[in-house]
Amino acid sequence: MANHFERLSLRHSEGSTTILVGRDLLGQAQVPLTPWLEGRTVFAVTCPTVRRLHGSALEPLTAAAARLEVLEVPDGEEAKHLEVAGRLWTSMIEAGGKRDSRLIAFGGGTVGDLGGFVAGCFLRGIEYAQVPTTLLAQVDAAIGGKTAIDWGGTKNSVGLFHHPAMVISDVAFLETLPRDELRSALAEVVKTAVLLDPLLLESVESKLEDLLGGDSKALEPVVVATARAKARVVERDPLEGGDRKLLNFGHTLGHALESALSYRQLRHGDAVSYGMLFALRLAVNRGLEPAVARRCRQILRRFDLPSLPEVDRDRVLGAMARDKKNFEGGLTWILPVALGEGALVDDLNPGEVASELESFLADPWASDE
Ligand SMILES: NC(=O)c1ccc[n+]([C@@H]2O[C@H](COP(=O)([O-])OP(=O)(O)OC[C@H]3O[C@@H](n4cnc5c(N)ncnc54)[C@H](O)[C@@H]3O)[C@@H](O)[C@H]2O)c1
Repeated sequence: MANHFERLSLRHSEGSTTILVGRDLLGQAQVPLTPWLEGRTVFAVTCPTVRRLHGSALEPLTAAAARLEVLEVPDGEEAKHLEVAGRLWTSMIEAGGKRDSRLIAFGGGTVGDLGGFVAGCFLRGIEYAQVPTTLLAQVDAAIGGKTAIDWGGTKNSVGLFHHPAMVISDVAFLETLPRDELRSALAEVVKTAVLLDPLLLESVESKLEDLLGGDSKALEPVVVATARAKARVVERDPLEGGDRKLLNFGHTLGHALESALSYRQLRHGDAVSYGMLFALRLAVNRGLEPAVARRCRQILRRFDLPSLPEVDRDRVLGAMARDKKNFEGGLTWILPVALGEGALVDDLNPGEVASELESFLADPWASDE
């Protein structure tokens, strides 16, 4: 019997992306993947962990494709390197890849970012699909057409916008994710919920322990709601000139913490959680109702985050100033003004930020008292 799945769509300049969320999707006849790859040479890019845990999910696709080549890249951020992209292009040329060949990025956000980049450049761009296997990729990275590799020691510094033809998010894959990955990804869900979808915030509040435990039944509606919110923002602002920047809530300080800690001591999502905590302080100083900030902080408290490593305030301020997301004009903060509403703020007094940061780094949770 066919499983129910949710179908969303995202319209963009290249056409539209179909986003499906459900379970056991790859083998289902109603899923538009089969006709899309019928008779084509298909390159499935994946990493060793995903291949070991979920590689059998690709089997139904081999019958539809003329030929399916599985290409493996390293696990994690190591995949997002030009040499890895180069190896994929070589394999694709040697295997007779054509303009109408297809690429499937089957893995987390790293495989998705690399796969999209490789597809976007190969023969000046071939169609690709995202089959995201992490919560972060299902709620965020796979949606919106941003692709990238890391270059010159800077994350995501070389890339292009290239939207996938479809995003097939099978929540069953999330059952094998470690708790740390789930917690880190849930930071991006909270980010979206606080600024764009108060009902989603309620679901996260009521089911947080199940979500952190990887319960795919609890995760499914959360993936749908977060994907829908992201798709709507990307439709309104495809190139991140305005509204899409709201998705950077928590990232101004989050990126700076990651960079000041040399990307080693804190996961991205945990850094974003600390970034949101800090932004909530700034927001309260500018008039956000303290009860709203307290509610958001209480959710983040239940994440049981690893403690914030000791980090020098001036290194963090320096990293913020260098962040590529900022423009020459100076720092932009994304601050909630009410639940479900955010603002881009670029007129914060640097002295106020520095002194608030000093007390935040000494005790990030102090405002709970
Ligand atoms: N393009 C965008 O808009 C966008 C947005 C946010 C983040 N990103 C990028 O996403 C990347 C992070 O993505 P991520 O958090 O998915 O990390 P990831 O891709 O590194 O995956 C994390 C780890 O989980 C493993 N894994 C993947 N699926 C699994 C599963 N189902 N069960 C068990 N293990 C599994 C992977 O092998 C890897 O070791 C970063 O490079 C970031 O820059 C991109």
